[in-house]
Amino acid sequence: MSGNLATVSYIGATILFILSLGGLSNPETSRRGNLFGMIGMTIAVLATVFGPRVTAAGYPWIIGAMVVGGAVGLYAARVVKMTQMPELVALMHSLVGLAACLVGFASYIDTSAPLAGAEKTIHELEIYIGILIGAITFSGSLIAFGKLSAKIGGSPMLLPGRHWMNLAGLLLVIWFGGEFIRAHSISEGMTPLIVMTVIALLFGIHMVMAIGGADMPVVVSMLNSYSGWAAAATGFMLSNDLLIVVGALVGSSGAILSYIMCRAMNRNFISVIAGGFGTGGGTPAAKGDAAAPVGEVVPISATETAELLKDAKSVIIVPGYGMAVAQAQHTVYEITKHLREKGVNIRFGIHPVAGRMPGHMNVLLAEAKVPYDIVMEMDELNDDFPGTDVAMVIGANDIVNPAAQDDPTSPIAGMPVLEVWKAKTSIVMKRSMASGYAGVDNPLFYKENNRMLFGDAKKMLDEVLVALKS
Ligand code: TAP
Repeated sequence: MSGNLATVSYIGATILFILSLGGLSNPETSRRGNLFGMIGMTIAVLATVFGPRVTAAGYPWIIGAMVVGGAVGLYAARVVKMTQMPELVALMHSLVGLAACLVGFASYIDTSAPLAGAEKTIHELEIYIGILIGAITFSGSLIAFGKLSAKIGGSPMLLPGRHWMNLAGLLLVIWFGGEFIRAHSISEGMTPLIVMTVIALLFGIHMVMAIGGADMPVVVSMLNSYSGWAAAATGFMLSNDLLIVVGALVGSSGAILSYIMCRAMNRNFISVIAGGFGTGGGTPAAKGDAAAPVGEVVPISATETAELLKDAKSVIIVPGYGMAVAQAQHTVYEITKHLREKGVNIRFGIHPVAGRMPGHMNVLLAEAKVPYDIVMEMDELNDDFPGTDVAMVIGANDIVNPAAQDDPTSPIAGMPVLEVWKAKTSIVMKRSMASGYAGVDNPLFYKENNRMLFGDAKKMLDEVLVALKS
């Protein structure tokens, strides 16, 4: 393939990636968005492999790597459950970071096209910054993987003087950067490069370890953004324009998502990154710090739930992580269809951080073919709870916790929540009284107008559906 054709292919792929991002911003166009992304990536890979910079001697290596990578990807796609997707995504981000580091070291020791003067300095700067971002992304994403898969505890690890440690790390990275650029030989430059890599790896670990459970959504999207910048840095090191553009697209869309997440959680981005936000001035929130909820828990049966739904004129369903675990979305759809046929005004309230990844609930509901026009954002619907007969909470907890509004000492204080308790009756469907991801008690369960339908969401909803139809 000629250089010109490769360039044209890269431009085509870039346009497809932009169209893909545009499509993914709306559930109705998301399938098309995915298709554009897949075509764009195929063109990008073909144009790179058959482009002017790859010689025939490289093909066995490329084919070998593609077979191994493809097999791992296929295996992961087949065995990973929907609820494990956020962990998988975190793991994938770590690979982007690792790739940036490896490419950085490889380009540094590659002497095939020696540079001099300003060009050499710029290339070395690209390498230094690329490895820095890559190493932070790599270790931070591994810790995020550990936290999301519950292999590492969710509470923030707050070391004394952690901000000073971060500052010292930053100053050292800058100082070693100067040493690296001034180095006269590869072996001389290798020492500052390795020292900086170690500092960056430690910083990545420290940064994510210091973030509390409820702030993880911001970290996931932030690491998404970092992986984009790591890819862009790799693009600079390899002088690959497409990788620079794609990396910048991922980096900036991840940054926008982090901002949206912060707004959804009512968090300040800098405070989240600095760690320990919402934990009472730098100490991890001990369980029970917040006032223990008072009142009586009133259980309800599936048959009684069906009776309440039969009598209701308006219903709001609030799905959460438990619906994903139970894979209850198809039964939710059956119940929705049945109630809509009976003339009930039924809608879904989606919290921006419901579940374990952005858009988690929207994906599940779309998969179950719930019509998009009854799936609403939290802000669109929160004022409607007082006029609602039944608010049905399916496997959600933190996102409907009134303590976020009422208890300033709560670790989730200030996070906007769906005000289900303002409905005539709220029904919470979960297996026990256990807390959610943020590990805080939920006073909703003790409210007078609240009922608890204990059990696996899928099993209980199947019973509700049978009772509704009888
Ligand atoms: P959670 O607060 O985690 O609550 C989920 C509830 O589902 C649990 O209390 C659990 O109670 C119940 N559950 C689990 N399995 C169930 C099953 N098979 N059947 C019925 N119920 C089941 O979830 P949420 O309300 O969706 O809130 C999301 C939380 O995750 C927030 O704290 C958010 O910050 C965090 N988070 C979000 C993201 C993103 S990007 N969305 C990423 C990381 C973290 P039982 O054990 O009693 O059943």
